[in-house]
Amino acid sequence: MVACEFQPGLEGIPAAQSQISFVNGQVGKLEYRGVPIEALADNSSFLETAYLLIWGEFPKSDDLDAFQEEITHHRRIKYRIRDMMKCFPESGHPMDALQASAAALGLFYSRRALDDPIYIRRAVVRLLAKIPTMVAAFEHIRKGNDPVRPRDDLSYAANFLYMMNEQEPDPFLAQIFDTCLILHAEHTMNASTFSARVTASTLTDPYAIVASAVGTLAGPLHGGANEEVITMLAEIGSVENVQPFLEEKLATKSKIMGFGHRVYKVKDPRAKILQKLAEQLFDKTGGDPSYEIALALEKAVAEKLGSKGIYPNVDFYSGLVYQKLGIPTDLFTPIFAIARVAGWLAHWREQLETNRIYRPSQVYIGDHSLAYIPPESR
Ligand code: SDX
Repeated sequence: MVACEFQPGLEGIPAAQSQISFVNGQVGKLEYRGVPIEALADNSSFLETAYLLIWGEFPKSDDLDAFQEEITHHRRIKYRIRDMMKCFPESGHPMDALQASAAALGLFYSRRALDDPIYIRRAVVRLLAKIPTMVAAFEHIRKGNDPVRPRDDLSYAANFLYMMNEQEPDPFLAQIFDTCLILHAEHTMNASTFSARVTASTLTDPYAIVASAVGTLAGPLHGGANEEVITMLAEIGSVENVQPFLEEKLATKSKIMGFGHRVYKVKDPRAKILQKLAEQLFDKTGGDPSYEIALALEKAVAEKLGSKGIYPNVDFYSGLVYQKLGIPTDLFTPIFAIARVAGWLAHWREQLETNRIYRPSQVYIGDHSLAYIPPESR
């Protein structure tokens, strides 16, 4: 074994061999199983993309129908999970509610038959089916209302929007939402996926894996940035204030939310597609003053930080889309999680194929052989 130098944040250290997705951060290229993200965004559906990611190939028509049907059938959540959510504080963040609820699924479904393809398939179906229902349920429960039951006649995306608003969505809006899910479904060895793979490597159950990944995604340096972007745009307030805001952030060495990426040194290809989706939405349903501020901020950041490779990432424009779809700001990250479950499950399966428990080393920089000092002498 070759010892290598410590790299903060494991930058540049491969943590797995993977066939699931590929990023070229110098040119802004992203592929799922070799298929460019642009082609999937234009032509696929979220469930077809999830199938591709998890099982490694596009489904034949019958396979996709069966997969969709199974997922539709498993959308409901147990009343005991709903009752558990009723005990959560209504002021709690929906990502915390989701993490707890995802972990709670492990209490209900049998554990760790990891060599049984039927167990794997059921767990995949249950997680894809139930996570959106749990996100929508907490939204109603925290307002003191009963959750809206899922509708079997609606597509995955349309059903989620229906469960949120208790109103069948315009098919155009459901289509836009479905494309957002495709764009967020997978992204190589990001922090939450790494977390999922580390957890998977202990051979624990998939509900614990997803719960650990949800907790990791929640942070503002990762998935939580989409929510922070909307808060930041509101704080900036006007196009005129973009430059002073940026100057102040740079002077205090603060991060501009929705910008920068460990891998991309150009604009994230997903941000480009999300920006187009936002524009399509604004054309159809009316503009959003925050968009003008976002455009001005993108331009100003490119001028100041472009030479460092700092450009919009996936979280920069997604919030503007979700806001226009009527989704509350603190549900943006749970929606990221709904989509990313597909990637986490794909990595779970891949990890199981060649599993070895993750157990990296550390570089110890503390003291040695110190004397024990009794409390009264410290
Ligand atoms: C996601 O990994 C993935 O694939 C994640 C993701 C996925 O799909 O899973 O793409 C989703 O998490 C997107 C990222 C969302 N986070 C944010 O938008 C938060 C703001 N961005 C940053 O904090 C930062 O860019 C990270 C966390 C995304 C990346 O961190 P790195 O790679 O550790 O980079 P760094 O913080 O060490 O910064 C390197 C340099 C520094 O300058 P110097 O000290 O070298 O002079 O770039 C600067 C940083 O100050 N910098 C920024 C900046 N991001 C980096 N400066 C101002 N604003 C920023 N946003």
